[in-house]
Order: sequence, then structure tokens, then C-alpha cells
Amino acid sequence: MRAPAATKDGIAERLGEARQRTLRLVEQLGEEQLNSVYSPILSPLAWDLGHIANFEELWLVQTAGGREPLDGNLGAFYDAIENPRPGRNELPILRGNELRAYMDKVRERALDVLAELELEDSEDPRLRDGFVYEMLIAHEHQHNETMLQLLQMIDGYDPPDLDPAPAGEPSSDGPEMVEVPSGRHRVGAADRGFAYDNERPRHEVELGPFLIDRAPVTNGAYSDFVAETGAEPPMYWERDGEGGWVSTTFGRRAEVDQALPVIHVDHGSAEAFASWAGKRLPTELEWEAAAAGADPARSNLDGRAFGCAPAGAYADGAADCGAVQMLGDVWEWTSSELEGYPGFRAFPYPEYSQVFFGTGLKVLRGGAWATRRNVIRPSFRNWDLPGRSQIFAGFRCAGDADR
Ligand SMILES: [Fe+2]
Repeated sequence: MRAPAATKDGIAERLGEARQRTLRLVEQLGEEQLNSVYSPILSPLAWDLGHIANFEELWLVQTAGGREPLDGNLGAFYDAIENPRPGRNELPILRGNELRAYMDKVRERALDVLAELELEDSEDPRLRDGFVYEMLIAHEHQHNETMLQLLQMIDGYDPPDLDPAPAGEPSSDGPEMVEVPSGRHRVGAADRGFAYDNERPRHEVELGPFLIDRAPVTNGAYSDFVAETGAEPPMYWERDGEGGWVSTTFGRRAEVDQALPVIHVDHGSAEAFASWAGKRLPTELEWEAAAAGADPARSNLDGRAFGCAPAGAYADGAADCGAVQMLGDVWEWTSSELEGYPGFRAFPYPEYSQVFFGTGLKVLRGGAWATRRNVIRPSFRNWDLPGRSQIFAGFRCAGDADR
């Protein structure tokens, strides 16, 4: 039997849900906020919104339906590779009512095409089993996270009331590190079901035994590291004048909670912390092996909590090795650079991941509180420049185990 999500009604419903969340995130903002540049490394929100719709038009209207675009010139402005982030507000992109009308019109046409298509037995691998639809839903979800990176910079932004996040209880105490025994581990995504090309092919790797932190590194541990070494604090931390720290997201000053995972640290800082602690970062394959058995339903994902749960939470979603919060809360930096797996084949287009292989980007795993649940699988690979800290990135450390 086919999963209900792969039916046309299921796809239409999930496209609708994705759009509802996107609009919910920006509904309190005026045109000025939507069209302002808050950081040279983030797009104005109006660009994100237009890009979401333009990508939908490209794949769900032009590619899937063989139809002409509404305005053939728009694609050039919304191409993420052709238009680096610093210049996006200078482009003649859609704004205001024109932008909303375009989003609505594209969606209407995409649903028309969906109604006409034969998905199940399509000859086209991009359509078979609804692949492009899964890709488009994931794309909109992924842009919600990028938008949240910027929304955190808007003074007075009021996190919308979404369905509450699942409770983080039970919380757990335990050893600082847990061991993953040596052995062969299957990594990557299976052939069937939706996954990005960079997660395939699934393959086996032989790993020696290693230790991994049971929980992500906390603000408390990180502030000790900063105090002792003089290292830079995470983005959004400011001194409170009394020897402590406040965080400043959404323009609000709140005491940094020592029990939460540290977030908004760059790769170099994560590595420096690890060596200060006598440890190292895990490789991405170690990370994936350690995450086996972690339950995505018992994790702080989906943007509902608008922040992290304390380290040790969601203990009933622990991985087989005993590590908690492998999924959700913070993306976790690994020591690995983004490369294709042995036997990699670009699908459905090389610009999703292949063009980034071997360019010095570091892999992050596991998803953050801001990541929609649908995006995350243990095999999902995120990546960024090692110096970036506006992303929702933290880390946990690894170490060698005695053989
Ligand atoms: Fe995109």
C-alpha cells in the first residue's frame, strides 16, 4: 500500500501546510522589514519568499507540467547560485502585493499540474513517486530555517504561537561520554524514499571504537572555555556587566541559560573547544553511526519551541549508543568536509550538492530547533563555510576509545 503522503491529496495538503508556516513566520512584518538587509550573509525576506515561489514554478509548473513561466525573466533574479546574498536586495525582485500575487498564482498552477499528472508509474524519475514534490516541500521547509536566522535579528520580533513543541521530559543524567563499539555501519539513505543525492548511495563503513559526548556541549561548559582561553563568545552573546552573559536574539536581552546547548558557534570555535577539553569533533560518519536508533519524533525540531531544550532532554528518543539529542536542538559541526559518497550521482541537478563538493565546506548533522521535522533523517547532510555562526550550529565532541 502507498503511504498516504504520496497521494495527490496528501501532497497538496503538505504543500499547503508548508506555505502556511512560511506566511505565519512573516505575517507580523511590514514591507520595510521584508525588504531590509539585516546581514550581508542573509537575503532580505522578500527575496526568500519570491525564491520559494520561483523554485516551485521551475519544478512544479515548468518541469513537471511543461508549462511556460508567468514571467520568464524572474528566474535570473531568484537563482541562488547566480545571485550571491549581498546583492539580492539590489535586484528587481517582486515586492509587496506583486510578490504575494505571484506566490498565490504559482501555487494555483502547481496544483493544476499536480491534478493532471500520473506520478506512480511515471517514466521520469523526477516525477516517479512524487520526488519533485517531496523536494519542493523540503525546499520550502529549509528556507523557513534560513528565514529564522534573519528573524532572530529583528528587534521585537514576536515568535508566533505555533502548536507547542513536544515536551522534553524525561530528561536524563549519565556519563559525559558514551561508547560506540567498533564495527561495520551502514550510512547514507536507502534507494527508495525521498533523500537528496548527496545522501546516496548507502554504503558500509568500518569504524574503530570511539567515544561521543552523551549530550551537546552546553552554554555552561562553553562559558568556562571562553573565560579560561579568552575565546570569542558565540554570536548573540553580550557581557551582562557582572561577569555573566546575556543573549540578544529578537532584540531581547535574556540571561544565557547554562543548561542549554551552546548555539551559534563557528567550526573553528567548536574545534578549539574540543581540543581544550582534550577531545576532537566526530567525523560525519562517526556522527551518523552514533545517531542510529535516535527517534525524530522525540526531539526538539520543527521550529515550534523557538529555542533549545536543556542538554539531556528527550532522553526517551536516545540513540542506541545512549547519546541524546542527536536530532534537533542544534546542528552539530563535524570534522568532515563535504564530499560525494563513493558512487555518487547528481540528481536531479548538480547545483544542489555536487558543485559544493571539495570546496572546503564543513558538514553539520542532526538538525536544530529551527529545522522542520520533515527535513531531518539521520543521513541528512547539511554544510556551511567553517566561519559561519548565524546558523543554528552547536556541537558535541568525540574521542578515541581503547581498542
Ligand atoms: Fe533555495
